[in-house]
Amino acid sequence: MFFDRPDSGEKTILVHLVIGSEEERDDPMEFEELALSAGASLVAKISGTRRQPAANNFVGSGKLEELAACVRATGAELVLFNHSLSPSQERNLEKHLKCRVLDRTGLILDIFAQRARSHEGKLQVELAQLKHLSTRLKRGWTHLDRQKGGIGLKGAGETQLELDQRMIRQRIKAIHKGLNKVRSQRQQGRRSRQRAGVPTVSLVGYTNAGKSTLFNALTDAQTYAADQLFATLDSTLRRLELPNLGTAIVADTVGFISHLPHGLVDAFCATLEETASATLLLHVIDGASEAQDELRMEVESVLTEIDADQVPRLEVVNKIDSVSGNEPRLLRNDAGVPVRVWISAKTGAGLDLLLAAMTELLSGGLVSQTVILRATQAKLRSHLYKSNFVTEEQTDETGASILFLRLPKAELDRILAQEEVKLGEPKYLRSDQSDSLAMAQAVSAGSASGS
Ligand code: GTP
Repeated sequence: MFFDRPDSGEKTILVHLVIGSEEERDDPMEFEELALSAGASLVAKISGTRRQPAANNFVGSGKLEELAACVRATGAELVLFNHSLSPSQERNLEKHLKCRVLDRTGLILDIFAQRARSHEGKLQVELAQLKHLSTRLKRGWTHLDRQKGGIGLKGAGETQLELDQRMIRQRIKAIHKGLNKVRSQRQQGRRSRQRAGVPTVSLVGYTNAGKSTLFNALTDAQTYAADQLFATLDSTLRRLELPNLGTAIVADTVGFISHLPHGLVDAFCATLEETASATLLLHVIDGASEAQDELRMEVESVLTEIDADQVPRLEVVNKIDSVSGNEPRLLRNDAGVPVRVWISAKTGAGLDLLLAAMTELLSGGLVSQTVILRATQAKLRSHLYKSNFVTEEQTDETGASILFLRLPKAELDRILAQEEVKLGEPKYLRSDQSDSLAMAQAVSAGSASGS
């Protein structure tokens, strides 16, 4: 581990400046959450505006004084900037403020380092850290040379610098080698799953949406979930048995975040490699967040970036337990394909709907069926409505309900096996009826292609 991480409770000041017209950039609320999830204890927040960053200290002289006074008054040990600082700006600030200074990239790297769980994730974080470090190290030593000035010292500094740079280069080479090995192992695993016709369902979503919680609820596995951003950094694979379908693999992935520092985008995208080749994506959305629409768009644009926008997906609006009046339900598009489901991963509400929708999308085939229900079959009738299978209802002369259903073949078979239901004429939907239905077909074709 190359970076000092703020220990839990480290007294921290946050600095967020609006630079030029970039008012929307790097949301201060999100930055605060990032800082908290890194374990910082906030003692003050300083904001301001600047037309452009000052070359030497990033902030102007007035703001620098304000900051220094604030550090003295609060006894802060760390100042976090919601911006990218150059190595020399970081160093100059540390000199003036007499405490540690970390920029946004350093903070996110720190969080990534804490959360990486798989071997690959850890390697990727270390690679990003080394790249970040190598620029800082170089300037760091130059600065030291200039400060001390002595001939002997300068020589020693340069020797040390060359040594450190060489060590870093060697380590970077070793990491690349390690990453290639892990990647090829993972590709092999993916290929053999495809050959066996096992579909992969990948959970994606903005950080803190509840992916790990849902992953646990679905797979009953004890993965790490915490009320912190980035509880997941790596794809984690678990097996899931779907009723009437068989085994599927569920992959939990790293939470998305807006304005990811440049150097981290590669590391982030690499952990999502699994996503572009998934059979189905579950896009988990924090239903309790006011910014859910914006966050959903952010996720969509990253999916496009990593070529996963063509993968069929189901939106899973989570945390309905914390939004009053939100019941579990399933939304279908005009072609009857499930597009969104409302659930609570925490309480388990709606998980049955989610599992059924996943089965439906993965199995693809929908059938139309007319059924006639007796008054005593109210429970089945309610289930059919809740799952959004009913397209129309009529009552016959005896008072019995005639329901026109559109539902997955597997679900119909399950109902018929469990209950005595009087049937009307079955009518099969053709796969080319609509784009959306073709989507479901593409899902089943994807899972079948390797078998
Ligand atoms: P990252 O790994 O950071 O991307 O997070 P994540 O999307 O995996 O979220 P995680 O499962 O760690 O959940 C984040 C927080 O939301 C935790 O405090 C969970 O307890 C909470 N949470 C998850 N699901 C629900 C839910 O259905 N209801 C409520 N009220 N809270 C939930």
